[in-house]
Amino acid sequence: MNYSIQKTINLFGSQLDKKQILEAERNGILPQFPRTKSGVIKKKSWDSEQISLVGEQIGYLKSFGRPLAFSIFVTKGGVLKSSLTLNLARSFALHNIKTCVVGLDMQGDITSCLLPENQQSDEESLEDALARIEATQGLADFFEGRVNLEDITLATDLPCLSIIPETPELVALDQSIINKNRREYWLKDNVIQPLKEKFDIILIDCSPNWNRLITNALTASDYLISPLECKISNFRNLKVFRAFVQEFKKDMNLNFEQIFVGTRLSPNRKLSNEIKEFYADTLPHFLKTSIRESTQGEEAVAMSLSVPEYSSNSAAGQEIRTLTLELSSLIRLLENGSEKRIEQESMTKDRGL
Ligand SMILES: Nc1ncnc2c1ncn2[C@@H]1O[C@H](COP(=O)(O)OP(=O)(O)OP(=O)(O)O)[C@@H](O)[C@H]1O
Ligand SMILES: [Mg+2]
Repeated sequence: MNYSIQKTINLFGSQLDKKQILEAERNGILPQFPRTKSGVIKKKSWDSEQISLVGEQIGYLKSFGRPLAFSIFVTKGGVLKSSLTLNLARSFALHNIKTCVVGLDMQGDITSCLLPENQQSDEESLEDALARIEATQGLADFFEGRVNLEDITLATDLPCLSIIPETPELVALDQSIINKNRREYWLKDNVIQPLKEKFDIILIDCSPNWNRLITNALTASDYLISPLECKISNFRNLKVFRAFVQEFKKDMNLNFEQIFVGTRLSPNRKLSNEIKEFYADTLPHFLKTSIRESTQGEEAVAMSLSVPEYSSNSAAGQEIRTLTLELSSLIRLLENGSEKRIEQESMTKDRGL
């Protein structure tokens, strides 16, 4: 993809004007435009390889002080878990933050989004399609020792974004983990911890049901992000879900923080807004910015893009930028808090208390 100056300004919602961007390019603060041998600019635009270096300079996101793993999970289907994962993953990667998505849903939605070449095309023969499906290896193959973690960590169209794809064998993996010692920790010990050596952010896209893969994801996570539909049908589910998470955290002695994001908001509907307000009043860490129901949001997913990439100037595109920034500021705040907590704990231990 090519990013003209205006497109780049829109993508990052930057306050800089064209003149300032050109100056930054001339001064070497931003990557160089392609030039002829005699130094004349051929085209005032960047490509996909360069855009994250531009984002790092003029964007709105920075990596956190340590690598972090996030599970995107709630026990309800169709509430934009995978769409949120896609938007967060691409937004971070566009800011040159090394990001890896781990797909844990047998439906494979995030995999087909981030690996479009894995999608079926009309021209593909049945034979080729079967060969392609057979060739994809994932966590189950890694568990069986047939491949290394590097072999299943695949590149995407953005240089800073990788994915461990979902395969149908995840069903078998869910069962096989039960026979392991430390069965709640298989993913953390073998996948997430090693990934943290290479990536700043790991996003785990979960299925909507509790299973062993999900409890492994929670155990491996520093943060749990739960999308909540701004719809009345969600209320009863939320109560049960929160109780489950609390109990699991207590039983496993885990201390991940839970962050809630409103989704499918209908800004013109009174009830939808009231539900959002109710969440904001009753839930800790409920983000002010919710994701509205929108065709741009839906179309962006179909195009395998984040909403700011697909429709940067729309309300939906602006909203994802604001949401990502708000999430990132909250995490920074919580990270500072946990740093202090860790310091205090070690001081208490030092004093032998
Ligand atoms: N802002 C939006 N408004 C309306 N629809 C959207 C929006 N963003 C994404 N969608 C569409 O909503 C559908 C469901 O979203 P998504 O797959 O992210 O939900 P999910 O919670 O991951 O579902 P599942 O539980 O099946 O994994 C998708 O087809 C997606 O294209
Ligand atoms: Mg999903």
